[in-house]
Amino acid sequence: MIPTAPVVRAVQLEKRYRKMVAVDRITFDVRAGETFGLLGPNGAGKTTTMRMMACISPPTSGELSVNGLDVYRHSRAIRDFLGVVAQHDGLDPDLSARNNLIVHARYYGLLGKPAEARADEVLEFFGLTAKAGDDVDNLSGGLKRRLTIARAFMHRPRMVILDEPTTGLDPQSRNRVWEQLAVLKQAGVTIAMSTHYMEEAAALCDRLVIIDHGRILAEGTPGEVVHRFAGSETAIIRVEPGAREPLVASMTQRGYHVYDHGTALVVHGRDGDRPVVDGVDATRISYRTSTLEDAFLALTGRELRDE
Ligand SMILES: Nc1ncnc2c1ncn2[C@@H]1O[C@H](COP(=O)(O)OP(=O)(O)OP(=O)(O)O)[C@@H](O)[C@H]1O
Ligand SMILES: [Mg+2]
Repeated sequence: MIPTAPVVRAVQLEKRYRKMVAVDRITFDVRAGETFGLLGPNGAGKTTTMRMMACISPPTSGELSVNGLDVYRHSRAIRDFLGVVAQHDGLDPDLSARNNLIVHARYYGLLGKPAEARADEVLEFFGLTAKAGDDVDNLSGGLKRRLTIARAFMHRPRMVILDEPTTGLDPQSRNRVWEQLAVLKQAGVTIAMSTHYMEEAAALCDRLVIIDHGRILAEGTPGEVVHRFAGSETAIIRVEPGAREPLVASMTQRGYHVYDHGTALVVHGRDGDRPVVDGVDATRISYRTSTLEDAFLALTGRELRDE
């Protein structure tokens, strides 16, 4: 593959809210035409990072450029280059679906007949033509989300930033969004997206970062991240209650990430290998192929995050 210049370049990017560090000096690139994923638990800093990329929120320090333009100095040009789907919809409830698109297009200087024609095109592409005249308030959550994504494409952006585009969608709607993103990618659109669905990230993203507490813990293709942090396979070990503690101790000593599931121990592999569990006192050991979710949990732990 021919290397291309990065479309987004972040170097030591930081965002603080008073003393709270939301994004802690992260460095990453998004390359032209790729689908780039930001994964991380609640409060990890995904939205904050994307808002800085979209020039909605200024960085506290560090470098950040989009399409070669500095976010500190060229926010208007960057906003024209990007389409943005925020985590929360922000549709106008007093307008129809179609008029939401048309009004939004005004911010980009797209007016009158061309705006109407483009709205119809976008509605068609996102399967919303039948809902064009409906008040937004009458649309289901899934349709509102699709309309929000559609709206971001009104001005034909070459890159889109999507903050959890499919959260709350049923499997049909989610698959529909995946198909549409695949078509847009084929057309050369660069995509940066956050998601809590590991299967979605594994299917859509060319590369991704896993973030926690504002820091990047892993970066690579989904396959690379799984391989490195969860190995080729994950072991599910069933043990008698008395054998549990020594087994956890021995697995931990071998450097494996162990999770006590109650009925079984879940042990992830590492650096491409499957965990070696020979000589352990187990009633039953089975293996399954490691997934991105395994790598995610191995990296970010199991404790719930306060919001
Ligand atoms: N405007 C703000 N003022 C103060 N703190 C903020 C603000 N916005 C975000 N934060 C804090 O910054 C941290 C990162 O938040 P952010 O919204 O970027 O997380 P996230 O990864 O998008 O999480 P989620 O998965 O829940 O959407 C959190 O601790 C959050 O409480
Ligand atoms: Mg968020």
